[in-house]
Amino acid sequence: METVDFLFLFKEETVEAIKISTLSGRPEDMRTGALLVGVFEKPKRTPKELKVLDKAAGGALERLIKSGDFSAKMGQCAWIYPSGATFKRLLAVGLGARDKFSPEAFRRAIGFAAREVRRIKSSDAVVALPEGSGADFPGVGDLARAAVEGFIMGAYKFLDYKSKTENSGKIKKFTIVSSAEGGELTRVRRGAEHGAVIAEAVTLARDLANTPGNDLPPEGVARVARIQARKYGLRCKVLGVPQLKRINMNALLAVGSGSSRPPRLVILEYRPKGAPTKKPPLMFVGKGITFDSGGISIKPSANMDQMKYDMSGAAAVMAALVVAARREWNRPVVGIMPCAENLPSAKAYRPGDVVKTASGIRVEVLNTDAEGRMVLSDALHYANRYKPAAVVDLATLTGACVIALGHEAMGLMSRDDDLADKILAVGEACGERAWRLPLWEEYNEQIKSDVADIKNVGGRAAGTITAGAFLARFAKDYKWAHLDIAGTAWNERDWAYRIKGAAGAGVRILAELGEKY
Ligand code: BES
Ligand code: MN
Ligand code: ZN
Repeated sequence: METVDFLFLFKEETVEAIKISTLSGRPEDMRTGALLVGVFEKPKRTPKELKVLDKAAGGALERLIKSGDFSAKMGQCAWIYPSGATFKRLLAVGLGARDKFSPEAFRRAIGFAAREVRRIKSSDAVVALPEGSGADFPGVGDLARAAVEGFIMGAYKFLDYKSKTENSGKIKKFTIVSSAEGGELTRVRRGAEHGAVIAEAVTLARDLANTPGNDLPPEGVARVARIQARKYGLRCKVLGVPQLKRINMNALLAVGSGSSRPPRLVILEYRPKGAPTKKPPLMFVGKGITFDSGGISIKPSANMDQMKYDMSGAAAVMAALVVAARREWNRPVVGIMPCAENLPSAKAYRPGDVVKTASGIRVEVLNTDAEGRMVLSDALHYANRYKPAAVVDLATLTGACVIALGHEAMGLMSRDDDLADKILAVGEACGERAWRLPLWEEYNEQIKSDVADIKNVGGRAAGTITAGAFLARFAKDYKWAHLDIAGTAWNERDWAYRIKGAAGAGVRILAELGEKY
């Protein structure tokens, strides 16, 4: 019998309920505490589409623009307090250059605006969709979706561990107003609904990753997965230590052996409703190290607390499965989350150990801090039993990836050009960037072991790629891509819809891939 000792605080409802609605109308007629209106960069006068609104605001927008204080660069916000208008406050939001406008630009601008709305503690906000013509001006559906995503992601705050809900201005309502009618209005509504599903999934992933290690051990991830499965009609399977032993998942067991809180393989399965399909599943695999101390090869203590985010890959996978169910994707999807806590102890695995992974490949452990590739090796092997159409794994895998790409892009590695191109394209479309690194056979030299089949470290050169090359050895029997999210999994500061702390990285890119696959 295993004993599971941890305090479990994860709440069932993860999303601070914001009621979202869409309507056809004029912004100047809105009753709201905060009317958000986008303005393109370097306006000389009030843009003609905002003239009527400005009249309702008593010409305050015109005065703001003429003052020269508001250049409308991306994210710049200025509050205006009109007298005698139906709206209490008007927020002019800089959209940046008109010729660079895109759904992502709008998502960012609304992210900035959401933080302003939270700061002044308005309980609601209304956004007016920017109107524009021309072939490259984004459609209303995409803009509505971007607005909801930007607003919910930007208004996010992790308050689970604050005794008082202190200064948190609770936002209860978010409304999108536009001139769209009929079919166009339907597009607005569908876009908003889509955005809400994505943003709530991002919130789930952020909450999971922000939850500290003491409250979210491997079994905690399993528990949250069961809750989501019940809520959205997914199948959830959790393998504990005896089952993991039976299928020789010795790499996952080795990484988890140093902790009193045992490892788990958490599986979520989505099947489309209706007649059973023969379509092979799309699979997502996420690294779920609930805390990474480095183990016996212990990390320096500075910033070690950030390693509570080391299960961000698993969090994104869980969130993506929720999206699959809520969006009713038309093919099966399976999520695999190998979860363990990497700690040093008398029972911990050690440098020099040789571990026989579930695939039979023997790995020489030269650094217990290279634990992500260990747990993923067993999970990627496990994926074979589903005969997948494609497998995408996500992991906060290497510090080297942060050095290579910083915080603006995740590292993409794949030997399949078609899958890689798809991921790059959906990433650009949904505002989560990936950048491809090569996975040439030659890199295998660096992970050759003197005593076993391979070793778990490849030296300082190309550290992100050699980690990818290691994974490739276990993912050889299907279409596969690897995303290193080490640089994007959490934010150091607030910016647009990025909020300090867990970013929910990978949720949108997986959601977009699944939608299009
Ligand atoms: N979780 C870390 C990678 C990491 C480091 C992510 C910093 C985000 C920020 C991973 O388990 C790790 O420790 N990797 C080692 C690998 C090395 C020992 C080959 C690393 O990157 O130093
Ligand atoms: Mn590590
Ligand atoms: Zn790690």
